[in-house]
Parts: sequence; structure tokens; C-alpha cells
Amino acid sequence: MPNPDIQVLIAYHSDYGSTEKLAQAIASGMRSAHNNVSVTLQQASQTTADDLLAADVLVFGTPVHMGGMAWQMKKLIDDAGSLWMENALQGKLGGVFASGSGFGGAGGGVELTMAALHANFLEHGMIVVGLPKNALGYADGGLHWGVYARTGNHEGMPSGISDSQLTSARSYGAYLLEIAGKILRN
Ligand SMILES: Cc1cc2nc3c(=O)[nH]c(=O)nc-3n(C[C@H](O)[C@H](O)[C@H](O)COP(=O)(O)O)c2cc1C
Repeated sequence: MPNPDIQVLIAYHSDYGSTEKLAQAIASGMRSAHNNVSVTLQQASQTTADDLLAADVLVFGTPVHMGGMAWQMKKLIDDAGSLWMENALQGKLGGVFASGSGFGGAGGGVELTMAALHANFLEHGMIVVGLPKNALGYADGGLHWGVYARTGNHEGMPSGISDSQLTSARSYGAYLLEIAGKILRN
């Protein structure tokens, strides 16, 4: 590949694979939207400050754990605190995604989780990109914050990720790259 126009890092945590499926679908949407993009998918626990610095677009994803993000994602965020001191991530684009069982029908803390990821990006002076409501799959897998998949059924048991949730994730990937193309290369 020639030097990519846009470098993306998708850093996520996933214990059982649901959040990882969203990460893969976002990456697939990005690759289909732009033929000269480099997309790296990586577990949050394997991600370093240098990885964050190298990317133009950072996309963070986490399962909801006890109403908030998984500690592995929080650790990455806290470990990147020195970059905040240096304003090193300023002007990069940020997107977020999450999965949660959603037991109770009100999302089980997902909005707080996604807003906390946004807050971190905004602390760094980054540009946060949400998901517009006309994105394909939005009704099942979208929130204005980004991509969300409810992975539990009414009995509180895992029900997996639906096709429309994956569609929403692919749309988000494509949308992030559309915005990146407009903002980063002008
Ligand atoms: C320790 C733990 C705490 C959890 N807490 C919540 C919660 O507060 N709200 C929620 O909606 N789901 C909660 N869940 C369910 C997971 O968020 C959900 O199954 C998610 O899709 C798992 O993603 P993964 O397959 O990527 O690990 C919890 C799961 C675990 C293991």
C-alpha cells in the first residue's frame, strides 16, 4: 500500500467477543469507504502511547462493566495522561462504540460509558464524531454517541450481535472516514 492518507487505530476491550465484532465491522466499513486507509485493530491492553500518537483517528470500544467502561480501557486512558500534558492528541478525530447486555431496557449504563469515552477525547482537545440518525442500522445499533449493541435478551442471557447492529457499525466506520477526509486533509 502507498503511504496511507489516513491512519486509524481501533483500540478496544472484549472478554467474550461482542465488542470485538463491532470493532471488526467498523474497520470493514472504513476499508470499504476509502481505498488508502490503514486501520489497526488492537486490544486496549496491547496499546501504547506511541500507537495513539501514530493515528489520525482513534476509535475506542468497550463492553459496559457495572455501569461504566471496562478497566482495561480506563487503564489505557489513564496511562495516556502524559499525552494530555503535552497536548499531543489535539486535533485528532475520535469515535466510540460499546456493547452491553442492557438488562432493564435502559441500556445498563451504556450512555454513561460512551459519554465517558467522549469526555476523555475532549480532554485531549480531540474532535469527537458521533453517529447521525440517518446512518444505516441506526435504529438497532446506533446512538448519537456512536455505535452500541445490546447483547442480552429479556432473561438477561447473551443473545449476540444482530446483523443490523453490525450494519450500524459499518456505517459508523464509513462515516468516520468521510469526516476524517473532510477535516484532516484540508
Ligand atoms: C463484570 C461484568 C459487568 C457487566 N456489567 C454490565 C452493565 O453494567 N451493564 C450492561 O448493560 N451489561 C453489563 N455486562 C454485560 C456485558 O457488557 C455484555 O455482555 C457485553 O456485550 C460483553 O462484551 P464482550 O463480549 O466484548 O466482552 C457486564 C459483564 C461483565 C462481565
